Amino acid sequence: MYPLKRNRRLRQNSAIRNLVRETTLSPDDFLVPLFVTEGSGKKEEIASMPGYYRYSLDLLEKEVKALWALGLKSVLLFVKVPDNLKDNKGTEAINPDGLMQRAVKTVKNAVPEMLVMTDVAMDPYSSYGHDGIVENGKILNDASVDVLVEMSLSHAQAGADFVAPSDMMDGRILAIREAFEDDNFTDTGIMSYSAKYASAFYGPFREALDSAPVDLKGVPKDKKSYQMDYGNRIEALRETEIDIDEGADIVMVKPGLCYLDIVRDIKNEFDIPLAVYQVSGEYAMIKAAAEKGWLDHDAVVLEQLTAIKRAGADIIASYFAADAVKLLNR
Ligand code: PBG
Repeated sequence: MYPLKRNRRLRQNSAIRNLVRETTLSPDDFLVPLFVTEGSGKKEEIASMPGYYRYSLDLLEKEVKALWALGLKSVLLFVKVPDNLKDNKGTEAINPDGLMQRAVKTVKNAVPEMLVMTDVAMDPYSSYGHDGIVENGKILNDASVDVLVEMSLSHAQAGADFVAPSDMMDGRILAIREAFEDDNFTDTGIMSYSAKYASAFYGPFREALDSAPVDLKGVPKDKKSYQMDYGNRIEALRETEIDIDEGADIVMVKPGLCYLDIVRDIKNEFDIPLAVYQVSGEYAMIKAAAEKGWLDHDAVVLEQLTAIKRAGADIIASYFAADAVKLLNR
């Protein structure tokens, strides 16, 4: 008790603060999401994500080399699919020469040791902007899982180290795992978006990939019939447990900041690597406030990323990964 205990002794200067700090960030914590587009010489800024870009394959190569030089060793790939290749069945998603499949090869060619994870979901390929096949106003589960399995196999064939199903269909982890085992992709891993909430924070991402649900009669306007209700907490444990049983190597909570209670629940409950996705809307909020001079960009970035790790994240997928590493190196 006071004065024997004075907690401020441990906060007097940065040397002692650093010595007793419980949570520190390192480049090894990060998974870098990358947006890929067709063409060449393209580096297109995403309007609602200032400072973040879509790259054509030639410039993607440069970008991954730059990330590697910063000590960032894992990427998560997303593709923007031209409208004329979209349909309701995800046909282009399983094209062995599709943009994703070429992107995997491009990254592996440029930096062979870079860990490559691929997004597995139908929405960038869907004419309706949904993560599954739409029929009679509903998103079909099992027929969509069949597409996700084919898609995963095609990513594995292209050389992906991990596939990352972000769709929230039931049973897809087991189906993908079994297909990998049958086809001799025993070393290809699965990072499951297991507790993925139906969140308004995905807006800028959907702009980046032009993948928002379309406004058409008979097409659900939102993803609430498959992504989780943000009022729920216990359900996240249930979803995660099922994905672990089905063979997920890594599980995920998404979005980040609003869901750190879920992150801690899962960390306490399960013994498996846990990823957290700090999503596009979280990125956009910080950028917008910083642009207005209302928040200190760098300080807020490090505070939020540290909070995500403190809550229990082993892996952080973040659009701020490169910024953060540069700040840590200062
Ligand atoms: C789609 C997918 C989404 C994100 C990752 N994969 C959007 C969605 O579910 O609508 C969001 C990522 C972000 O907002 O940064 N399967």
